[in-house]
Amino acid sequence: MDNVAANTPCSDDFWTYTLALPHDGRAVRIARAMTRTVLHTYGMPQVSDVAELLASELVTNALRYSDGPSWIRLSNPRTKHVRVGVWDSNPTIPAPFRGALHPPGPPECAERGRGLLLVRECADRWGGYALGEEVFGMCGKLLWFELAA
Ligand SMILES: Nc1ncnc2c1ncn2[C@@H]1O[C@H](COP(=O)(O)OP(=O)(O)OP(=O)(O)O)[C@@H](O)[C@H]1O
Ligand SMILES: [Mg+2]
Repeated sequence: MDNVAANTPCSDDFWTYTLALPHDGRAVRIARAMTRTVLHTYGMPQVSDVAELLASELVTNALRYSDGPSWIRLSNPRTKHVRVGVWDSNPTIPAPFRGALHPPGPPECAERGRGLLLVRECADRWGGYALGEEVFGMCGKLLWFELAA
């Protein structure tokens, strides 16, 4: 096993991990654990807490606002950066993630409506796009954010 690891080319520069999630609340915890493990393994522990928090907001939303499976993908678009994408089958892209420049935040007394606000405030970059059905038969949309370590 050690020999295999030693002989495997180093892929620190570009990597991608994707986890398919069932429509099950326990998937949030598993997505968080994956995020933590990947970031610690690839030398970015300093962004792990924030990445976990924001990933769990997006995965919770995927479960709450779609009725099918979803997935989470971690990749590094540039050295010492992580991009987290969460796909779900609901085609609606929430307002802030479809280009509204200054979407209103929730009223002060609101009990909900802060998850995406957290993502916008804490991530270095964020966005969303629709996935057409022509791509591997998938539809829905992907919301993403990036953090620099
Ligand atoms: N994946 C999604 N698909 C469709 N609509 C979404 C999705 N995520 C969020 N939304 C919409 O955006 C709104 C804001 O989401 P946000 O996560 O900020 O708040 P929330 O989920 O209502 O509450 P919480 O503060 O518990 O996260 C939601 O109420 C929902 O209408
Ligand atoms: Mg939410």
